[in-house]
Amino acid sequence: QPLEVGEDQVSLEGYDHYMLKEIFEQPEALKNAIRGRLDEENATAIFGGLNLTPQQLRSVNRIILTGCGTSWHSALVGEYLLEEFARIPVEVEYASELRYRNPPLESDTIVFGITQSGETADTLAALREMKRKGHRTLALCNVVGSSIAQNADGGVYLHAGPEIGVASTKAYTSQCIVLALLTLYFGRLRHLSFEAGKQMIEEIKRVPAAVQEALSCDQQVREVAAKYQSATNFLYLGRQYNFPTALEGALKLKEISYIHAEGYPAAEMKHGPIALVDEQTPSVFIIPRGTVYDKVMSNMEEVHARGGPIIAITSHDDNRITEIAEDVIRIPEVPEFLQPIVSVVPLQLLSYHIALARGCDVDKPRNLAKSVTVE
Ligand code: G6P
Repeated sequence: QPLEVGEDQVSLEGYDHYMLKEIFEQPEALKNAIRGRLDEENATAIFGGLNLTPQQLRSVNRIILTGCGTSWHSALVGEYLLEEFARIPVEVEYASELRYRNPPLESDTIVFGITQSGETADTLAALREMKRKGHRTLALCNVVGSSIAQNADGGVYLHAGPEIGVASTKAYTSQCIVLALLTLYFGRLRHLSFEAGKQMIEEIKRVPAAVQEALSCDQQVREVAAKYQSATNFLYLGRQYNFPTALEGALKLKEISYIHAEGYPAAEMKHGPIALVDEQTPSVFIIPRGTVYDKVMSNMEEVHARGGPIIAITSHDDNRITEIAEDVIRIPEVPEFLQPIVSVVPLQLLSYHIALARGCDVDKPRNLAKSVTVE
């Protein structure tokens, strides 16, 4: 029996909604996902349930990451991570597409299903189809004993604790940190040096505290939300590791506020979405300090020049941002590969406060289900 925990078994602990509680639980959830998984002596990560030998994992030459909704977004983060640090080619597939596709796959391809509930019908079916074709399937899953966890050849549990709010929050950041740990593990089987592994470990250990710090923007985000609660369109823009963050921010807003929002790679904006920019359409830029900072800045200038109001999420102390953005929300500085975990926090809070201001049912948005067990 899956150990899925219902609303009646989880207390709100003084929070108004499960979503808010789960957003604030993220530092703890991240600690739980990391606990016991760092091997400092060998500068790598430890996974007990992959059910594959290091030799088998060493010979993996391609990884497919699949999932739906928010889990598909963490798969995108995983693609950036695994390709950069483990140097393994990664493909991200919507589970609903993968299940009916017939992609040519070599035998050394493994398939990871990413899922909070472990019950999403499309993800389960995609993994079954891949397994039937002879590929190893692994689950990155939160709910212990769920269908997907049982069906896969092995996997990793998130240990995020029960997530009740329909909009996924702590499961997402936990998925991202586990993907970073898997990257460390795969990287250390291949090209990543002891020193580089050690540094990654130190940086990963600092993430829960960084997320804790990011949560202190709550009050400010509430004020920003009040300002834009009547907008009918939002753009979310970010690049590289924060492109998935843009998608996730937009999805959160759609899910619980019923406001149309588009997430885009910031530079892609000029190929269409910029036509949407006007004084009534806020653009949320995810622009932490990093290699693409200047590039995102020039994308932001383009929006500003067309009169679009800007909400900037940044770790940078740059005057230019303050000049052109209506609102600047500060997040702590972390290395780029960990930024998605920190930069998504203000976006979760923004959608929460906008939904609340609009009188929406935050924990049970219309037309949505926590897990979609039908096709
Ligand atoms: C539903 C939920 C989403 C979730 C998606 C995938 O659509 O409303 O929040 O991201 O399913 O769920 P899973 O449990 O597989 O991660």
